[in-house]
Amino acid sequence: TTMDESLQTRLQKLHVHQPDIPECFPSLNPFDVYRIHLANALSEVTGVQPKIIYPLLQRTATLDKGDLLLPVPALRIKGERPDVLASRWADQVIRPFPESTLVSKPIVDGPFIRFYFNPTTLVKKVIPAVLQNRTEWGNNPLLGLKDANDASKGHKRIVIEFSSPNIAKPFHQGHLRSTIIGGFLANLYKGAGWNVVRLNYLGDWGKQYGLLALGFKMFGDDKALEEDPIHHLYQIYVKINSLLANERKEIEQLEKDGKDDSKLRNEGLDEQARKYFKAMCDNDLEAISMWKKFRELSIQRYKESYTRLNIHFDEYAGESLVREESMKIAQKELESKGLVEESQGAAIVDFSKHVPSKAGKALGKALIRKTDGTSLYLTRDVGALFERNDRYKFDQMIYVVATDQELHLKQLFKLIELTGNEDLRSRIHHVNFGLVLGMSTRRGTVVFLDDVLRDVGEKMHEVMRKNETKYAQVSDPERTADILGISSVMVQDMSGKRINNYRFNIDTMTSFEGDTGPYLQYSHARLCSILLKADVPTSEIESANLDLLIEPHAINVVRLIAQFPDIIQNTLKTLEPTTILTYLFRLTHTINSSYDVLQVLGSERELMEARLALYDAAKSVINNGMRILGLTPLDRM
Ligand code: ARG
Repeated sequence: TTMDESLQTRLQKLHVHQPDIPECFPSLNPFDVYRIHLANALSEVTGVQPKIIYPLLQRTATLDKGDLLLPVPALRIKGERPDVLASRWADQVIRPFPESTLVSKPIVDGPFIRFYFNPTTLVKKVIPAVLQNRTEWGNNPLLGLKDANDASKGHKRIVIEFSSPNIAKPFHQGHLRSTIIGGFLANLYKGAGWNVVRLNYLGDWGKQYGLLALGFKMFGDDKALEEDPIHHLYQIYVKINSLLANERKEIEQLEKDGKDDSKLRNEGLDEQARKYFKAMCDNDLEAISMWKKFRELSIQRYKESYTRLNIHFDEYAGESLVREESMKIAQKELESKGLVEESQGAAIVDFSKHVPSKAGKALGKALIRKTDGTSLYLTRDVGALFERNDRYKFDQMIYVVATDQELHLKQLFKLIELTGNEDLRSRIHHVNFGLVLGMSTRRGTVVFLDDVLRDVGEKMHEVMRKNETKYAQVSDPERTADILGISSVMVQDMSGKRINNYRFNIDTMTSFEGDTGPYLQYSHARLCSILLKADVPTSEIESANLDLLIEPHAINVVRLIAQFPDIIQNTLKTLEPTTILTYLFRLTHTINSSYDVLQVLGSERELMEARLALYDAAKSVINNGMRILGLTPLDRM
């Protein structure tokens, strides 16, 4: 199609081939321009090849430490002390380029050489690039090319499985984190030119769903189901489970008393649930059609919540949809490798027999198939993986699942490896995360996503009402409060490293003070309002005289803006939302502290235009960063 062609030519144009140096994109990432320049200059004085120096040039943690630094020890040069080498090289390095317009004279700091970009050239490189590319700034479609040197070979495909709640059970904190992190990863890879498949693998199968269906027959109500499937199914789930618990107690008591418990065992709820699930597995029409209805109504409801979170799925998969045949194939493969043994009529894999020492012990034993022939969570995962591999022919697949399922995923990955599918094994990854502690809603501790979102929205509405004058200016306070509430939850979730646990705290997350969602939204909205109030045509802003941006505050903002594409590229390595979020807060702090110095209203027209160009570029970066994280940037609040 023509659209593909224009993208292809654009990619080809963008692609300045760097012999020897992988992941170097000077046309999209300004830092790479400086890295090439410095790697070449340093190569002349050190005799080390540019391709070795290039990846060692690191971005600094704070601007006072320079823009890029070279840790001399990383070059592993024998014989001389790194700090001595550093001083000598720093002296020599500017000589090959005495009039380097890119970098100022470096500063030696022990064994480090620190480089500062020349502000005059930096400003002119960066601001126009942002203003020309706007929403695309920071994206790098070259990263996802199958062949870095040949765009015509197309883009890599990644399947991201995330959210994956269980029908009829609460959408708990683990699902919320999976949803937030998975949505973020999908945006990140898309911006990097990957072909992204978003997959929701619903927990909708297993004996407990046989029990749920029984419960529905007993207490279900079609109207209530249509109206609020998630809560209705949950109520039924709770009721029937408490009946089941009573039944278990009764059986225990009968046993204790030495009385006959066979009637309860053979005809009780537990057995009926097992039979019902077996009927579902055997494709019993009535059982299946009821099941379909539960599933579809629940999906409709989930979709509404996902929309509020800016998330959509390309496929609603689920445990119920894994074909019996794929699981049989999986089991056959396991059997043919001699991995499966029988244990009391069930099929199991004892990892300790196939994986050496400690690792094997840690993996333990896994049940592959029950005595009655029905499948299990793990078996369904193996089958699902084979199906996805056939269907999507993915280059990579990510499971976004809490660390408490670490063992399950390790067992899954090991089974794949043991069946000899090493290539498939190398393409799948677990992106894990810790717990959210103390998540509850005003209604109690059982958590449904809708209730959480409603609560934070209401809380934000209360906070907004406190400032009457401002509140009166917001055109759609309900929607604004909703977005602010969602931003609060998401930013709190993404603030730390994924693996860390954190405590769910509505008061902290909805505050405008500190590094919160509302603060980030406020910073964005403030830039929008400055641009709106100034009322200068975009064409004027885009042709502003950037030589007027000379104050250290302005330069520092530009230095941070310049980092954005590099930050994104790094995020593809860390897969941590906090990598972007921390950067956005650094940028917003720097901007928010520069308004007094870099005034717009009241300045000369030319200066005003230059400063607006700076603010406009900063706004674009914040906007792009927020959208990658899955937030909806507000223009007004
Ligand atoms: N539905 C599962 C749960 O809530 C999460 C699914 C994780 N993904 C997987 N392929 N096992 O615990």
